[in-house]
Amino acid sequence: MRRYVAAIDQGTTSSRCIVFDHHGRIAGVAQREHEQIFPQPGWVEHDPESIWRNTESVIAEALDNCGIGAADVVAAGVTNQRETTVVWERATGKPIHNAIVWQDTRTAELTTVLAGDQGPTRYADRTGLPLSTYFAGPKLRWILDAVPGALQRAEAGELCFGTMDSWILWNLTGEHITDVTNASRTMLMDLRTLQWDPRICAEFGVPPAMLPEIRSSSEVYAPITSGALAGVPVAGILGDQQAATFGQACLSPGDTKNTYGTGNFMLMNTGTTPVFSEHGLLTTVCYRLGDQPAVYALEGSIAVTGSLVQWLRDNLGIISSAEEIEPLARTVADNGGAYVVPAFSGLFAPRWRPDARGVVAGLTRFVNKGHLARAVLEATAFQTREVIDAMRADADAQRLDVEQVTLKVDGGMVGNELLMQFQSDILDATVVRPVVTETTALGAAYAAGLAVGYWSSTDDIRANWAEDKRWTPAMPTADRDRLMREWNKAVNRTYDWA
Ligand code: G3P
Repeated sequence: MRRYVAAIDQGTTSSRCIVFDHHGRIAGVAQREHEQIFPQPGWVEHDPESIWRNTESVIAEALDNCGIGAADVVAAGVTNQRETTVVWERATGKPIHNAIVWQDTRTAELTTVLAGDQGPTRYADRTGLPLSTYFAGPKLRWILDAVPGALQRAEAGELCFGTMDSWILWNLTGEHITDVTNASRTMLMDLRTLQWDPRICAEFGVPPAMLPEIRSSSEVYAPITSGALAGVPVAGILGDQQAATFGQACLSPGDTKNTYGTGNFMLMNTGTTPVFSEHGLLTTVCYRLGDQPAVYALEGSIAVTGSLVQWLRDNLGIISSAEEIEPLARTVADNGGAYVVPAFSGLFAPRWRPDARGVVAGLTRFVNKGHLARAVLEATAFQTREVIDAMRADADAQRLDVEQVTLKVDGGMVGNELLMQFQSDILDATVVRPVVTETTALGAAYAAGLAVGYWSSTDDIRANWAEDKRWTPAMPTADRDRLMREWNKAVNRTYDWA
């Protein structure tokens, strides 16, 4: 009797495999970090082959950890860091360049050229996205320009493009496919037809022959051909933020989750028609189950939140592990007037300022490392407040009922109690953490398990979701308003730098 579903989560800093049981509880997990390659300021790359090797290892380790084999696993789901772009040879499976990571800003000039006279919103009505260094299409164009002969080889059908889901699927199954959620992050897919847009591809100079087939997020794609899960069908693919939304049971319009990872990503389910933002949010595909209509989301993407804590640890040495930030921040009563705006990749939602670079503002001789630790944590909460303000404004305009929003949270930083209380205070909203905070992997497992009938409907997802803890706002309005005013002043100092 097969009792488990496996989820492969290929993230920005690590690759993991998590095995879930029918209640959505974790049975086994394994994780491996990979190298972050910074060839120049603003550039970020990954080695796709080492990521694939890590993926193979964590699959085997996770099964070992719970003492099971492929025969106990009913299906596998794949979830991934989105937008990160790989091009490989169809004949050999060899990448022709390192993967260009979503945080990479090398395409700043290229996106301005692609925007032309029409500006950054040129493709927004079809793709839901502004022209930005964030998305995969411009990264792909950059590789085709940078690697000698790549364009001609792509036109001849010798090269494959993929985001990390496609790269992993190719290596697991030999199939060249992606799902609608990942495709919606390329700028090359039409949000309504859910197919590659031939006009945009032509204008980007991307040969259609190199594009993967776009499939739903939940269906049987192909069996795994080798390794510890050989023979198990891959039956779910979702970009990691969409997977977390699904895993958090945000299944009705207005349901909202916020994931605190290297960056923060807030998604609000908006139902089966795409809602286009007037306040700096993205429109994205949330999930599509088999041949059912696609469900869309509004998304506020923040590039730097948890990675600011890593920067404090690795670049400044103020803490020696990420966990130390909370006790350090608790040594002081407040931020002492200091603000850190981590515009390392420019600013994403809702401001979309590629010219911004990070600042530390409000320093006096009074400020010590406790204040800086607090300012680093607060930066995550302030940026989240900007996104939720945009979401409330868009929702008002579209008459979506989200005024009483309860924010479901997950990701690495939600164990930080100081941050969670401050988040609730700054949002003036209730923040709720579920028992299983590995919602990204869980969402991919649900997509795969639904496709093979292991779970019978999304009602099972709702039934499995359970609350662990909630935080309610306790900050006087005047304090909240003052903090947001000062934060805004600090953000204004980041502009026109790059
Ligand atoms: O859009 C980027 C996002 O998918 C990355 O997520 O959790 O790998 O930082 P994460």
